[in-house]
Amino acid sequence: MNDKIKISLGNESHEFPLVKGTENEVGIDIKDLRSRTGLITFDPGYKNTGSCLSDITYLDGEKGILRYRGYSIDDLANNVTFLEVAYLLIWGELPNEKELSNVSNEIQESSSIDKDLECILKSFPSKAHPMGILCSLTSALIAFNPSSVDVSSKEKMFRATIELMAKFPILVSWVHRKVNGLPINKSNSKLSYTENLAQMMFKSSGDNYQSNPIIINALDKLLILHADHEQNCSTSTVRIVGSSRAGMYASISAGISALWGPLHGGANQAVIEMLEKIKADGGNTKKYLEKAKDKEDAFRLMGFGHRVYKNFDPRAKIIKKTADEVLTKLGINDPVLDIAKGLEEEALNDPYFIERKLYPNVDFYSCIIYRALGIPTEMFTVMFALGRVPGWIAQWKEMRLNKEPIGRPRQIYKGYNSRSL
Ligand code: CMC
Repeated sequence: MNDKIKISLGNESHEFPLVKGTENEVGIDIKDLRSRTGLITFDPGYKNTGSCLSDITYLDGEKGILRYRGYSIDDLANNVTFLEVAYLLIWGELPNEKELSNVSNEIQESSSIDKDLECILKSFPSKAHPMGILCSLTSALIAFNPSSVDVSSKEKMFRATIELMAKFPILVSWVHRKVNGLPINKSNSKLSYTENLAQMMFKSSGDNYQSNPIIINALDKLLILHADHEQNCSTSTVRIVGSSRAGMYASISAGISALWGPLHGGANQAVIEMLEKIKADGGNTKKYLEKAKDKEDAFRLMGFGHRVYKNFDPRAKIIKKTADEVLTKLGINDPVLDIAKGLEEEALNDPYFIERKLYPNVDFYSCIIYRALGIPTEMFTVMFALGRVPGWIAQWKEMRLNKEPIGRPRQIYKGYNSRSL
């Protein structure tokens, strides 16, 4: 293949270099397009636009491949913990025993939050949406931590990362307890990262909490599967906010807002609400498939389709198996799971979904696990956010280390020409 592409404009022609990734993805480098031709590209939703060079996550939507730093999501989900995956994403390699225990100790030592933040938590109305509370508390963390980090200083970057990794699960547990009208639980430094999260979320007062390995394993898998997904809406938000040199916590707080929407992380809440609705409506899955196909109807089959995966979402395969395991081992019989399975089978055999390559995504089954663990529906996207934190940190750091310019798209103006008052 040539390493240049020619664009012809009337009598003129211009050559632009091609940029090639390690997995042979090829992009046209149009950095000079406007200065040389006066033209810009038009690509709503950035469906054809590569916004950066990245070493973190590789995704092949056609083949259903997802890898973090070269390791397949299957290998990671089945063999290592969320904390090891977080280390891999942020620092580039899986940790050895000493590195893991160092990070783990540092996180445990930073696992407390200023009392003033608890006052902010208390001030939220009891019906506030958990994602709104999480987003505000993350922004509020800035008051107690550096708003801007010198990324070139390994020590400063390490500290900011440790602080966020340590404090974020505490915030998540606070939001969970608030939504359930329960007092908060303190962090327990003797427990692993995920056990501590479970303890802070689920321990009843006075209860000698015994962690259940089925729950810990399911939570750990969910966090790993959500840990990064290259340049999706929230991650691009984190990178673009950070490109203005805004701090890491401020950028991640913006990412949480982007994640909230039902077309992105909010889909897990939307899926369970949809399944509940179908159940209440007599379990008529066909009726809802027809609604999803009807262009006059705004209804979409939530948990189906993906901007990048045009084949099975590899995360969905792992999570479907985990959902089955959790329900069987915890002895839960959830009719919503049967509706989900029926809907999946019908959609996968329906020409509308086949032609458009619409498959179940990670959110189609993650919500069933969250529900089995007793997590309220509105908390589901908060759990997604917790998993995505290491990815956001890694992407923010990479963007800053690569000295990426401020993100600032252009537009094609379609409004009035100049007119008089
Ligand atoms: N139900 C019915 N039709 C759909 C669906 C769906 N869930 N998703 C896409 N389509 C149709 C869409 O109407 C369009 O049809 P046509 O070509 O006839 O106009 C075609 O498929 C292409 O859809 P699109 O909206 O152009 O595709 P996109 O890449 O812009 O959107 C998506 C991707 C994820 C926003 C979309 O599939 C969707 O809305 N899915 C439901 C929400 C959801 O589950 N989101 C979670 C994504 S996974 C978690 C994450 O990583 O964020």
